[in-house]
Amino acid sequence: MSGEGDANVFVADNICFGFPGKRSVLDQVTFALKERHFHVLVGPSGAGKSTLLKLCAGLLNAKEGTFLLNGSAADCSQRLMQSVYMPQSDTLLPWRTVLDNVMLTLELQGKQSAEEMQERAMALLDSFGLRDCADAYPDQLSGGMKQRVMFARTMLKNVPLLLLDEPFSALDSLTRKQMQRWLLDVWQRDRRTVLMVTHDIDEALLLADTVLVLPSEPGETVQALEVTFARPRSFELIYEPAFVERKRLLEHMLLGGDNL
Ligand SMILES: Nc1ncnc2c1ncn2[C@@H]1O[C@H](COP(=O)(O)OP(=O)(O)O)[C@@H](O)[C@H]1O
Ligand SMILES: [Mg+2]
Repeated sequence: MSGEGDANVFVADNICFGFPGKRSVLDQVTFALKERHFHVLVGPSGAGKSTLLKLCAGLLNAKEGTFLLNGSAADCSQRLMQSVYMPQSDTLLPWRTVLDNVMLTLELQGKQSAEEMQERAMALLDSFGLRDCADAYPDQLSGGMKQRVMFARTMLKNVPLLLLDEPFSALDSLTRKQMQRWLLDVWQRDRRTVLMVTHDIDEALLLADTVLVLPSEPGETVQALEVTFARPRSFELIYEPAFVERKRLLEHMLLGGDNL
């Protein structure tokens, strides 16, 4: 990869955030995202992963600290413009077809004719394996297909930073594995800078270039684990000894030394 590809495109510098009347969950959080790398954020439940993603997306304002985009401070509005946030829950509109749900992203941008929007949305549905269900309504789809539509709607927003909050958490384990393979393939074709939350360690190591570990105690450092397995990666990787070794290390980072 070129030197340019390894540049820090997004930096969270000493971010603090607390909910009123509650102990701060995020206190002096610092991490960097590299251009076109896949970053996975893991950490204990309630540690503030979703809150941190919303802060990165510009949906929440940090109490203290700075976000930098390509080296310049980025306020909420700039982060909203430059990133897209995919929430954990299904937010497809039940009264719109798959095609119309996906086109919503383009409609909100308001830059293209109806014909152009339809053409772009159909091309993406095609590459996501969704052409045949373009006219279906969300409640006619399986969980995995719905999730693909959510991805299509998210990725149609032409921004450099994708923020994905536990995209597979509602799926059964087999569908989840299929979707992990699918996302590997999709991302390898359209590499953007990704920050994705998961609590699944196999998923983290299979997809990530870097795993960021959010600590359970406010004020502790975010740790980064580099995952250097060659790409394109295949799902068989999870059975390799090198993978199991990384998994052991990541579990150690998450649980602490005494729990090995
Ligand atoms: N709007 C809110 N007001 C008060 N507390 C909240 C609010 N949203 C989340 N929290 C709390 O803040 C903590 C972090 O939440 P969250 O970011 O959802 O954690 P995670 O995604 O890591 O599970 C949790 O304890 C949660 O209950
Ligand atoms: Mg969460």
